[in-house]
Amino acid sequence: MSPDTAPPDLTVIIPTYREEENIGAIVREVSRTLADHSIRGEILVVDDSSPDRTIPLVRDLERELPHVRLVVRSADPGLSQSVVEGFRNARGAVIQVIDADFSHPTTLIPEFFRKIHEGADVVIGSRYTAGGGIGEWPLSRRIISLGATALGRILFPEITDPVSGFFAVRREVVEGAPLQPRGYKILMEVLGKGRWTRAVEIPYTFTNRKEGASKLSFTTILAYAVQVADISAHAFSRREGPAWRELRKILRFALVGLSGIVVNTGILWALTERAGLYYLYSSAVAIETSIITNFLLNDFWTFGGESGHRMGRRIYRFLSFEAVSLGGLVVNMAVLFIGKEIFGIYYLVANLLGILAGFIWNYLVNRNVTWRSLPLDDTQ
Ligand code: GDD
Ligand code: MN
Repeated sequence: MSPDTAPPDLTVIIPTYREEENIGAIVREVSRTLADHSIRGEILVVDDSSPDRTIPLVRDLERELPHVRLVVRSADPGLSQSVVEGFRNARGAVIQVIDADFSHPTTLIPEFFRKIHEGADVVIGSRYTAGGGIGEWPLSRRIISLGATALGRILFPEITDPVSGFFAVRREVVEGAPLQPRGYKILMEVLGKGRWTRAVEIPYTFTNRKEGASKLSFTTILAYAVQVADISAHAFSRREGPAWRELRKILRFALVGLSGIVVNTGILWALTERAGLYYLYSSAVAIETSIITNFLLNDFWTFGGESGHRMGRRIYRFLSFEAVSLGGLVVNMAVLFIGKEIFGIYYLVANLLGILAGFIWNYLVNRNVTWRSLPLDDTQ
């Protein structure tokens, strides 16, 4: 059989490192799935010079199956780097990424492919949306995964699993994108720097690897935090794209918060010094006034126009904002108290941590409850 000359419709990238127990079976399974659904696809194995039998096994498969290709890397090893190398070598109009260890169900590949044909730019296999799940993970891995997901959702709130390793993209999304791969979270990089507007998710249940061991380590967590900061900086410098729209909300929300401090202080001063009111009465009025001005600025500016202009909805949002602000006060004071009493931190410093915690609380709850936005494709 001679290899097809026309480019395939789909490239399935399988990054591997020491996968001799899985690689033969996974390539055959993907191959069969593509054939069953009449998808003209190629399978691209990207290996980081595995010292085991992975490479010779794939060489054998290459001879047997015309649509299988192997790329062997010898420098700068890493999962994300390998996936990006895969992007560069892919010939398909659609690119799918899947693990070699059967953690991701290959039977879903045709569904990913179909979603792209239906107009999605990015299709994400999600463990955290209704119908998805994780296998029996140890508590430590659950916590790390949830933390990483939460951090990622700050920039991509509509995506429940922004660190998934199981996803598909239209090739234009990653073509020419300034991806800086590192660590495990290549999808975050794609979402942060790729060109896309429509993302959809497909629920799936993560299956623990049958053979071999997971290579996830603690340094990958640090690399991930650096990556999120880098994506934010990128979004800030470009001032476009989904991550920028979220970052802009965070910055506006922070500015509004600062304006609230000015309003609060000004009214406290004016009512006490000029109107001769008892300072705690002045403070109550000052606090409520700043909550109202903060609300109005956020409603018209920070989250401008996203949640509708009907008066009833606005009053509902205002009440929600009040309640969240009250919660923020409690968070602030709790951190102050715990910081001072338990960790012995100087109270003014502990209070700064409290303010930060209160800000994060206020932003996240208001963003996701008070101003819960419309689906991704309807914003802008
Ligand atoms: N080329 C290459 N180089 N491949 C690698 C490397 C590497 O340094 N490290 C891991 N891989 C391959 C593995 O062979 C496997 O096919 C896939 O990448 C995932 O590696 P695992 O070690 O099995 O990852 P995991 O199960 O801990 O992590 C999974 O969950 C993450 C989300 O929590 C993966 O699906 C990740 O992709 C995902 O981000
Ligand atoms: Mn795995």
